[in-house]
Amino acid sequence: MMTPTPFVPPAQRAAWQRLQALAAAPRPHLRELLREPQREARYALEAAGLRLDFSHQAVDDEVLKALQALADESQVDAQLAALFAGEPINATEGRAVLHVALRGSDAANPPWGEAVATQVRITRQRFLAFAEQAYRGDLRGFTQAPITDVVNLGIGGSDLGPRMAADALACACPAGAVRVHFVSNVDAWALYQTLRGLDPARTLFVAQSKTFTTQETLTLMASAQRWLTDAGCPASELGAHWAAVTTAPERAVAAGIHAERVFPFWDWVGGRYSIWSAIGLPLAMAIGENAFTQLLTGGAAMDAHVRQASPAQNLPLHMALLGIWNRNFQRMPTHHLAPYPMALANFVRFIQQMDMESNGKRTHVDGSPVGIETGPVVWGGPGIDGQHAYFQLIHQGTHRIPIDFIGVLQEHTPLPLAAQHHRVTLLNLRAQARALAEGRSAAATHALLEAAGQDADRLTPHRAFEGNVPSNTVWLPQLDPSHLGALIAAYEHKVFYQAAIWGIHAFDQWGVELGKTMASAMAQGK
Ligand code: F6P
Repeated sequence: MMTPTPFVPPAQRAAWQRLQALAAAPRPHLRELLREPQREARYALEAAGLRLDFSHQAVDDEVLKALQALADESQVDAQLAALFAGEPINATEGRAVLHVALRGSDAANPPWGEAVATQVRITRQRFLAFAEQAYRGDLRGFTQAPITDVVNLGIGGSDLGPRMAADALACACPAGAVRVHFVSNVDAWALYQTLRGLDPARTLFVAQSKTFTTQETLTLMASAQRWLTDAGCPASELGAHWAAVTTAPERAVAAGIHAERVFPFWDWVGGRYSIWSAIGLPLAMAIGENAFTQLLTGGAAMDAHVRQASPAQNLPLHMALLGIWNRNFQRMPTHHLAPYPMALANFVRFIQQMDMESNGKRTHVDGSPVGIETGPVVWGGPGIDGQHAYFQLIHQGTHRIPIDFIGVLQEHTPLPLAAQHHRVTLLNLRAQARALAEGRSAAATHALLEAAGQDADRLTPHRAFEGNVPSNTVWLPQLDPSHLGALIAAYEHKVFYQAAIWGIHAFDQWGVELGKTMASAMAQGK
């Protein structure tokens, strides 16, 4: 059990004050920092097949040293060990936090204990066996026709992870016998537009809800059930069209879903960290058991890295510390995610929940109000589209916005000119990182305009670029299950490390309750 040392607010820690002093001193422009020899080689880390290039971050060795001292002073290693050991670090809910056990339970002597590992393995075998039936086209509906479409009904963590990964891996993994659709929003149009192209006799619904009390998901379930019965499905056959995933199996059974089609997970898995659990069922149906297992392996490889790497070599820790430098010491309130593979278009929404529902907190673990900034506003979208939409503001607006570019080195889209598409994509990714960092000075802009015979004096102010916009680039060799697993786990650990340093609880989400309570009170006319 981690011995609780008295909580020291971050701003009172020596390393924090050192960082404040460094931030207050004149800082070199990124344009100068990028001229340092070997900078790209020195400011890069590799783990579980990923490469983090942080050479375009506005930091130097002194700042990095102070950031690592802050991590040390915040006891991030002890806090991480407490997580892996299954200690009740989700203190306001009195729960352990063991999403890592979902992907690491095949190893011998797991830190969370054999009992949890056995539970995980048995349940995983069950839901993957069912997923494989769907993947192979072995499931049948009430007319005995094979199931060809699976519709996932769930929201938040019961939707965003599997939806994102099914999109991301559609190209890398051999397609199975079913198309998988995701419906999360309770607005009727969301379900209608998905169902209107489907055949009820060939459609399986997967109801996913950690609590099985979420109003939106229950409403979608009732509508789907009505769609089946309106299509002539006898009550006795409805079971063939339903499966469920929840931490409250008794509620799913009470809702009429056959017990053998109910797959559990546990309260020590946060919704936004649940893709590795049976919540991954629709994903496994889309990509198959092998590919899903590779996703777990990639996540477990990143876990092994954070447990073994020194602070100076720890990739997710650096993502966390650079984020804290930008947030708390460079005063940047938002964080932009720019994935360049279009297959990762939904990655931003997935990370928005993971990061903002975890670190959108204003109270320290000891109950005191935070005197510092915590979780940033995370926003973003596919990089190439962003360039032609909102990058104007990132280049020349009054916000300074740190960016995570995400790129893949190898591309597998089966298009004759895919290599040409890929070349343009990577050129733009690299050029944006450089342009945002280096900018173009007024003098250089003036000279350029003059050389072009334009009204340089009048136009220079409008066409110069401040630059000094920091960014990371996270490289994947290719977008496949194991590297996607490593990427997700890297961001999970980043979020954890930031919460550990900010001294906030990352694994509860009390802020979502008041609106829900008011909605149900209003429903009762109160
Ligand atoms: O309202 C937020 C939230 O509780 C998320 O934390 C969760 O992922 C989502 O709603 C869905 O909850 P459930 O899986 O219990 O339906």
